[in-house]
Amino acid sequence: MILPGVLLLDAAGPEAGLLTAAAAARGHQVHAATTAAAYKGYGPELKGLLAGHINTDFTRPDRALDELAAYARCRGVGAVLTVNEYLTELAAHLCTELQVPGNDPVRAGVARDKAVMAGAFTAAGVRAPYTVLVRDDLELRAALKDPGIGFPCVVKPLAGAGSAGVTVVSDPVDASAAADVARAVVGMYGSGGDPGVLVQAYAAGTEYSVESLTQVGAPTHLAVTRKQVTGGASRVETGHSLPLHLPPAIEAAVYREVEAAIRAAGIWHGASHTEVIVGADGRCTVIEIGARLAAGQIGVLIQHALGVDIWTALLDVALGRPAALAPTARGYATVRFVTSPRAGRLTSLSGLPTVGPGVPFARWRAAVGSTVHEPGANGHRLGSFVVTGPDAAEVEKRADALRRQIRIGVEPGSRPAQVRSASTSAIAP
Ligand SMILES: Nc1ncnc2c1ncn2[C@@H]1O[C@H](COP(=O)(O)OP(=O)(O)OP(=O)(O)O)[C@@H](O)[C@H]1O
Ligand SMILES: [Mg+2]
Repeated sequence: MILPGVLLLDAAGPEAGLLTAAAAARGHQVHAATTAAAYKGYGPELKGLLAGHINTDFTRPDRALDELAAYARCRGVGAVLTVNEYLTELAAHLCTELQVPGNDPVRAGVARDKAVMAGAFTAAGVRAPYTVLVRDDLELRAALKDPGIGFPCVVKPLAGAGSAGVTVVSDPVDASAAADVARAVVGMYGSGGDPGVLVQAYAAGTEYSVESLTQVGAPTHLAVTRKQVTGGASRVETGHSLPLHLPPAIEAAVYREVEAAIRAAGIWHGASHTEVIVGADGRCTVIEIGARLAAGQIGVLIQHALGVDIWTALLDVALGRPAALAPTARGYATVRFVTSPRAGRLTSLSGLPTVGPGVPFARWRAAVGSTVHEPGANGHRLGSFVVTGPDAAEVEKRADALRRQIRIGVEPGSRPAQVRSASTSAIAP
């Protein structure tokens, strides 16, 4: 029997690698849609798993759609997937074009443009922060006086990711600089450079994300994840842990908002990652939704803590087959993101955890000699590692102990030597 081919939009990164390996292991021919430059960076293992690839220009989505549809038709593609935030809208359009399971292309922009998201959430009755789109300093000043905003407030780019350019503004005098930072954010494939930025009411409380897989419009929530985030003006994720068990009434309220957000974003067949804040009063505010699996190794956490083969499940959903989503384990997993204490040149990095019992994943992408930054966005991570086990408190304790063993030497303020990129990653089977 010839199995349907699988087309993965952008196969770079650990999540895409695991998805490719799962689909290839099932006997599917896996193809990557990529760019010539990105394909050069694919490692030999990934290239060996791919049955083919097509280079396209993702900055021109209409043309990319035609090229990818033609390529997919010739190769019997029956599933289109992406774990790349910037390609979820194109994926929805391609699924429609090829008549394979996917999300509503008309609403796919909701998960990509936070101004569109704010409008869609309001229309759908999703509890979300009051949001104003401002195009210049005059509009910014008016927004800061809007009683719906108040202080602190949040200034963020329209279509950013990885917390880049997001600032919690506590004093009006800092707002203009924060807007400049948000405007300067450049995403992948020509995203960014928009004069518009968002000013948002600040939602106080504890941050979680909800990882869901939706099949024929019916979502299954795999886990609630506790997000660890820095305080201060730049909110950067320092780790994630799951599964979190919220009190039933709060969990029900969170799921109600998340399901409304999933519908508002037109997520019909596929993964979603919904970020929420639960206030002291137990009320849930949706910060944003991504029409994709969570990044930051949350898929690895799900796999090890819950025993759900998330990569095969994603494939099944994309093929329109019922996915096996019931947990087969009752464990716990956490990921720690390692960042530099200060900006400068990385002079040494030692004591790094390696893959072994209870540490299924470790990845280091910073090389000695390279320029490092104070944590201001997820892209500033030096690496990450995952710890898993049966007991939540023990897992957290071990992760903290492993983190304390890491020694990071940074020469502050010196001119960076030639920057070398390095990425070593290892994942236990
Ligand atoms: N309205 C808000 N109220 C309170 N905190 C917020 C708000 N908006 C953003 N934040 C904080 O800033 C962080 C990053 O914001 P947001 O999720 O909108 O940006 P992002 O670039 O999409 O991030 P990522 O891709 O890392 O999820 C959030 O995780 C949260 O800690
Ligand atoms: Mg976010």
